[in-house]
Amino acid sequence: MGGNLCKHAKDFASPPPLDNPYAMKVTYYGHSCFSVEAGGKNLLFDPFIRPNPLASAVKFDGIAADYILISHAHDDHMSDAIDLARRTGAMVISNFEIGEWLGKQGVSRVHELNHGGAFKFDFGRVKLVNAVHSSSLPDGTYGGNPGGFVVETRTGNFYYSGDTALTFDMKLIGESTTLAFAALCIGDNFTMGVDDAIKASEFIRCGEILGLHYDTFPPIKIDHAAVVKKFHAAGKNLHLLKIGASHTFPRA
Ligand code: NI
Ligand code: MN
Repeated sequence: MGGNLCKHAKDFASPPPLDNPYAMKVTYYGHSCFSVEAGGKNLLFDPFIRPNPLASAVKFDGIAADYILISHAHDDHMSDAIDLARRTGAMVISNFEIGEWLGKQGVSRVHELNHGGAFKFDFGRVKLVNAVHSSSLPDGTYGGNPGGFVVETRTGNFYYSGDTALTFDMKLIGESTTLAFAALCIGDNFTMGVDDAIKASEFIRCGEILGLHYDTFPPIKIDHAAVVKKFHAAGKNLHLLKIGASHTFPRA
């Protein structure tokens, strides 16, 4: 795996031109961390890179972000958020409790949402949606309720589930938004497993899935080929990107 990671290392230093009107470029940084170039900006989700041995070849100092979106307060979703926000000057988008906590740690540019609420940023609209999970900060502070994000931009729409169980609420997303892709947790044990993630893909009416939250810890190791095959049998395309690799999803 090491060779592949090195080959992609240069991508982190100089991202390709932004604002492709027909597509969104996704880059995977391991676990549930990924970036999306959408609406002319770089959106980075759930940064957990330096503590992840699987992501050791990622050039942390080269990661670009205009916005950092945090789904919930667990360490495996925000351990690198403070340092990245400081270096990049990115605005953090998260729930009220995480936003307040980050403010106390010196992160100055924070936009707080709460569930069901949406806001129009310069790249597009972000709505904080339900996730069924838990959420506490590294020092034990209450982190509010965990969430997911529906992001709608002129270059395409996508949904990131965060850590969650399968929930009927996902049907509401499918009814109201046409998604180019969805980033779903699939690793089981702490979140949805494969069968529930396939059901979630049906609820949200999306056939292009970026798999997240697998392989990082022993209880969530998966058989890649078997899982991809299972999605394929359900008529869904599951992308398990190598850490450091990118994939472009055309606007739906
Ligand atoms: Ni979690
Ligand atoms: Mn997690």
